[in-house]
Amino acid sequence: METLKIAMPKGRINRPAIKLFQEAGFAVPDDLEESRKLIISVPGAGFEFIMAKPVDVATYVEYGAADIGIVGKDVLMEENRDVYELLDLQIARCRMSVIGLPDWKPAINLRVATKYPNVASQYFRERGQQVNVIKLNGSIELAPLIGLADRIVDMVETGSTIRENGLVEMEQIFSITSRLIANRVSYRMKNERIQEICDKLQDVISGREQPAAPRINA
Ligand code: PRP
Repeated sequence: METLKIAMPKGRINRPAIKLFQEAGFAVPDDLEESRKLIISVPGAGFEFIMAKPVDVATYVEYGAADIGIVGKDVLMEENRDVYELLDLQIARCRMSVIGLPDWKPAINLRVATKYPNVASQYFRERGQQVNVIKLNGSIELAPLIGLADRIVDMVETGSTIRENGLVEMEQIFSITSRLIANRVSYRMKNERIQEICDKLQDVISGREQPAAPRINA
């Protein structure tokens, strides 16, 4: 069987992604993240997992270092990579939002801190609002608390980070889920393999989407 290189994000997407592959019938072990190994062979499934930082997955796939990968829609929206987006995996659901301190009256030229400068710039540009975007790499919620920015543009999942820091979600920009992406050449050269994975994952996703059976009142 031809080995398929799969860029797998470390961190919060990792577990639900592994679970999806397992439910699709691929013999993938649970503990991919437990060792510090960065390339993990799973000969039973014909996979080689490349354990990558989520933000780097699309880069590995675009350059063909991985055939396929799993990446958040947030990264795809920010980076505009030259890859095929094959499937909405419906996992790691969250949203991109504009967040700020309640009752904060910002200056005319809003300062916006974010890990997603392109997403933030486009959002405010489309509203005809002039902003200064400040790029940060993490703990974005700090920015309005210490006077670095008037607003932040960031991911909200459970909402606990903003709540615990006294911030409020002002607008939702778009919703986010993880996507299966493919390198353009790999998609042609290894089409059968990739298509098989897509089909099996799609079956699991469709099964999960089944609405609950209607309740029958006696
Ligand atoms: C992300 C995001 C928010 C938080 C949202 O940060 O940037 O800070 O998660 O999640 P919640 O709504 O469930 O609280 P992450 O944990 O990736 O770390 P970072 O701050 O270092 O970017």
